Amino acid sequence: RRFHVAVVGATGAVGQTMLSILAEREFPVGKLSLLASERSAGQQVEFNGEKVTIQDLATFDPAGVEIALFSAGGGISREYAPKFAAAGAVVIDNSSSFRYDDDVPLVVSEVNPEAARNRPRGIIANPNCSTMQLMPVLAPIHREYGIERINVATYQSVSGAGQTGMEELGKQTAQLLGFQEIEPAKFPVQIAFNLIPHIDEFLDNGFTKEEMKLVWETRKILGDDSIQVNPTAVRVPVFYGHSEAVNIETRKKISVEQARELLAAAPGVKVVDERRAGGYPTPVTHASGTDPVYVGRIREDLSHPRGLNMWVVADNIRKGAALNAVQLAELVASGG
Ligand code: A2P
Repeated sequence: RRFHVAVVGATGAVGQTMLSILAEREFPVGKLSLLASERSAGQQVEFNGEKVTIQDLATFDPAGVEIALFSAGGGISREYAPKFAAAGAVVIDNSSSFRYDDDVPLVVSEVNPEAARNRPRGIIANPNCSTMQLMPVLAPIHREYGIERINVATYQSVSGAGQTGMEELGKQTAQLLGFQEIEPAKFPVQIAFNLIPHIDEFLDNGFTKEEMKLVWETRKILGDDSIQVNPTAVRVPVFYGHSEAVNIETRKKISVEQARELLAAAPGVKVVDERRAGGYPTPVTHASGTDPVYVGRIREDLSHPRGLNMWVVADNIRKGAALNAVQLAELVASGG
């Protein structure tokens, strides 16, 4: 059976990748409705060799849509996801608008797929990219060794800020190499040749919302509110692929060998951990354009008897967003 699929935000960085992943994985698409703003309405996009016309979301009638993939920002999701759900669609939402609602499941396909079955509002939330790539690595460790605390610093690429984020890095890089002045727009300060310890808004506790997503979402996905998470989220001048320096403290000690063995068998995870030059994953050499979550630099914490360090890298647009969304659509399509 084939499904009427809608992609909301079809012209965006994540939306475009959703389309290529739907085609790659031969998702049973019957009718395809592509939605964006009125700026893009009328443009044509290729899907499986056929041209599909982008429609204006504001005037689109969702009747008949069975699965809707949303990635057009939180405001758009808040306004339109309930309308699509009311019209009968299962909405898979990439924004943070519904992630923390008790009646909306937050699902990583390899980790808690059973949660996707219970969706009273017709909405399944796709986790934030930084949490997403950590979960396939941490879930098997948590199950066997019990994670008490996670210290994580992220190195997040500009594609996480959408098409305009990538354009800004490209433009600033060219301008600076040409000795021109730059004008920050999408990012709060210069991103080319720089690092920015600020993603999403500042909250009252001094953390950014991007950092708190790691706290809230890790607990919800692993189903354990006792897990302590101490995050720092940093934007880096990389186009595709988020990296994370992760330190965990477990209840039961886990050795490097045990971690490698567990992770080698973890679905969606690839261990790249040779202690030599280039024997570790990086966004450019491994993650960009690929599906797995890569883990390397596995080593015991010198400062804690039950601490373990890891370096986790994945394509934030693929596993971090579009791929997981399509995997969730596959769960829905198969009756899950
Ligand atoms: P558009 O290209 O028409 O602006 P990105 O995350 O790469 O910036 O992409 C954001 C996506 O969300 C784009 O597809 C964009 O469409 C879409 N979008 C932004 N604002 C709206 C809106 N008001 N209505 C529908 N889609 C929107």
